[in-house]
Amino acid sequence: MPWAAGHSREQTAGFLARCERDWATGDAYEYAITADGLTVGSCGLIRRIRHGGLKIGYWLSPTRTGRGLATSAAAALTIQAFALPGMERVEIHHAKANIASEAVPGRLGFTRVESRPASPTFAPAGSKANVIWRMEREALRSREWKRRLSPQEAPGVGH
Ligand SMILES: CC(C)(COP(=O)(O)OP(=O)(O)OC[C@H]1O[C@@H](n2cnc3c(N)ncnc32)[C@H](O)[C@@H]1OP(=O)(O)O)[C@@H](O)C(=O)NCCC(=O)NCCS
Repeated sequence: MPWAAGHSREQTAGFLARCERDWATGDAYEYAITADGLTVGSCGLIRRIRHGGLKIGYWLSPTRTGRGLATSAAAALTIQAFALPGMERVEIHHAKANIASEAVPGRLGFTRVESRPASPTFAPAGSKANVIWRMEREALRSREWKRRLSPQEAPGVGH
């Protein structure tokens, strides 16, 4: 991502300070994704959708893609989101051109519910739309979802 490539020490410190503030206010819950003792990405639950819902975000170091880490992280966050009081839905939003991001909710059985024009602040250059995937609380109870989240299907998901 362009913003990640140019991340200075000061920007990283600012990001971490914002994460702490967001945890304190409950606006967002950001986590590190780790592998082999290193921080290789980040993921989080963000309270920026309408009441009763949380949005999941994720990114990985380009050296750690292709191993299921983002999918496992999104699965763990989905379970965590529904453990919070009053949560009825979890969403994943991405730019239409972001095929790698799109595959994550697809693998986890989210339903693609919307494709809409992107807001200028969200969309990376060249993308035309935001796509929204949603998981309702009810779906989490299904046998299929439990199978998808089993350790064999999604290694790295904490239970
Ligand atoms: C979006 C992003 C995190 C996706 O990364 P990713 O590596 O494709 O996703 P995962 O870590 O879940 O890995 C999935 C890949 O691992 C493979 N894989 C291996 N083991 C797996 C497992 N146990 N479970 C799931 N997938 C597994 C999958 O087949 C898939 O490979 P494929 O792309 O060849 O089909 C990454 O592209 C990124 O950081 N992009 C920039 C930031 C960004 O766009 N964030 C999203 C904003 S909305």
